[in-house]
Amino acid sequence: MTDFGQELDQLLYAEISERRDSVKGANRVDILSLLMSATDAEGNSMTDKELRDELMTLLLAGYETTATAMAWGLYWIHYKPEVREKLLQELDTLGENPDPISIYKLPYLTAVCNETLRIYPVALATFVRKVEEPVDLLGYHIEPHSSIWGCIYLLHHREDLYPDSKQFKPERFLERQFSPYEFMPFGGGVRRCVGYALAQFEMKLVLATVVSRYQLALADNKPEKPQRRGVTLAPARGVQMKMEGRRKSR
Ligand code: HEM
Repeated sequence: MTDFGQELDQLLYAEISERRDSVKGANRVDILSLLMSATDAEGNSMTDKELRDELMTLLLAGYETTATAMAWGLYWIHYKPEVREKLLQELDTLGENPDPISIYKLPYLTAVCNETLRIYPVALATFVRKVEEPVDLLGYHIEPHSSIWGCIYLLHHREDLYPDSKQFKPERFLERQFSPYEFMPFGGGVRRCVGYALAQFEMKLVLATVVSRYQLALADNKPEKPQRRGVTLAPARGVQMKMEGRRKSR
């Protein structure tokens, strides 16, 4: 295990043991406390190792992915002034302190988030599928024990579906609807990402709030390249931005 992995384990195990000892923990409703109070059909609760695994999944599958998606969103919105302008026009129609559901439903904001997740899908590929019985798939015969991954990146750059696929164009999501076989930033089928609804909600609310309240700018105009970071596709230079002040809605 890497130093980082060990450090993360130490922090997680310390948190678990502290929570087990704490009397105050009894009435807490945070996710760790809920996991600790959960029991299976036989009344067994989770071991420290199982709790550590659940926390690790949430941290890596839940936070790292969504944070990366939002970093890409901020990058595209500020890299393309016309996108920011159009988005602000839409956000300003909601007035001061809009409710979260109205933000969630905004068509252009949805298109910007979808295009962000299309062009550099945070998860390059789906998780692995193990083949259990012989199957023919698109002209390929696949034997049991084979492993198959769906490559989300390649699907999202098919020119027949997404002309000029390397260009950031939110309008493509307003002009037509893509099926779950054509657009799948969260994978697909029964093992599709369990956090997909939360992730989209979070991404829209955070981007809408930041963009409508603050005047931000990219630190420079150099294009941000995608770089593999573990299983995610992240901005190589980390999207450095400057804060230029607060923004007043028009
Ligand atoms: C923009 C953010 C996110 C992206 C792009 C993303 C993407 C994905 C993808 C591609 C998969 C594999 C699906 C497949 O193999 O078909 C996956 C699985 C998973 N994701 Fe996410 N995810 C995101 C956010 C989240 C959040 C917020 C959570 C939890 C709160 C989460 C939890 C999981 C879990 C537990 C799995 C495994 C599901 C299973 O195997 O049944 N993800 N995600």
